[in-house]
Amino acid sequence: MHIDILTLFPEFFVSPLGCSILKRAQAQGILSVACLNLRDFAFDRHRVTDDRPFGGGPGMVLKIEPLVRAIHWVRERRPQVQVILLSPQGRLFNQAMAQDLAQQESLLLICGHYEGVDARVQYFIDTEISLGDFILTGGEIPALAIVDAVTRLLPGSLGAEDSAAEDSFKDNLLKGPQYTRPRDFAGYTVPEVLLSGDHQRIARWRRHQALRRTWERRPDLLLHARLTAEDRAYLATLTVGEGQPPDSA
Ligand SMILES: C[S@@+](CC[C@H](N)C(=O)[O-])C[C@H]1O[C@@H](n2cnc3c(N)ncnc32)[C@H](O)[C@@H]1O
Repeated sequence: MHIDILTLFPEFFVSPLGCSILKRAQAQGILSVACLNLRDFAFDRHRVTDDRPFGGGPGMVLKIEPLVRAIHWVRERRPQVQVILLSPQGRLFNQAMAQDLAQQESLLLICGHYEGVDARVQYFIDTEISLGDFILTGGEIPALAIVDAVTRLLPGSLGAEDSAAEDSFKDNLLKGPQYTRPRDFAGYTVPEVLLSGDHQRIARWRRHQALRRTWERRPDLLLHARLTAEDRAYLATLTVGEGQPPDSA
């Protein structure tokens, strides 16, 4: 997959793209990323990319001409590209959207800044995505979040053990608790079942923990989860205000 990021601050991405899974995915040719400087698409003498809003008001607005020039430039080279504007007014990003985006050949992520972008950009993009109901300084952090979430889903990016298949939100369930050594820390012990070596029992316990966590923390997800009859039977044993989980191993 190829991802272009259109930004006024390409340097923002240097460090995150240069470490961990994003670095490895690029080294393996699974992912390529190009940070395009919006200023390079401003052709006036001072390469101006922003201007005061019509009608008055605070702050600056990103100008339409450099934005659209950059979009055309990318579309000419990648006709299949999905053009996405990062915006707090877009659709809320989630794992299902990450899965859809991971199927694309190429993405263009447009980072707004200052007071935002000239609204006419809507005629030149495919969709708007929001990272959440809060206002960030620019679209760089949301763009990076999307690159990261999508890259995890590209085949081979996580190495031989494809842990994305077990991540939270896969099939609308949260992942259950995880433990590593030591077995006992300050009296807090690891659930005995995980030390049993009984893989069937462990798998059943993990499924129950995932169901339980989702029920406790994000019951809204359960409405869309694919549940077996056994899952439903287990969920039926959980009641509000109950102290300990029923024996789920
Ligand atoms: C300071 S914000 C502009 C907010 C705008 N004045 C408003 O009230 O909707 C500047 C840019 O940051 C990005 N941005 C800020 N918050 C975001 C969010 N929650 N999700 C996605 N992008 C965001 C967008 O690209 C936006 O154009």
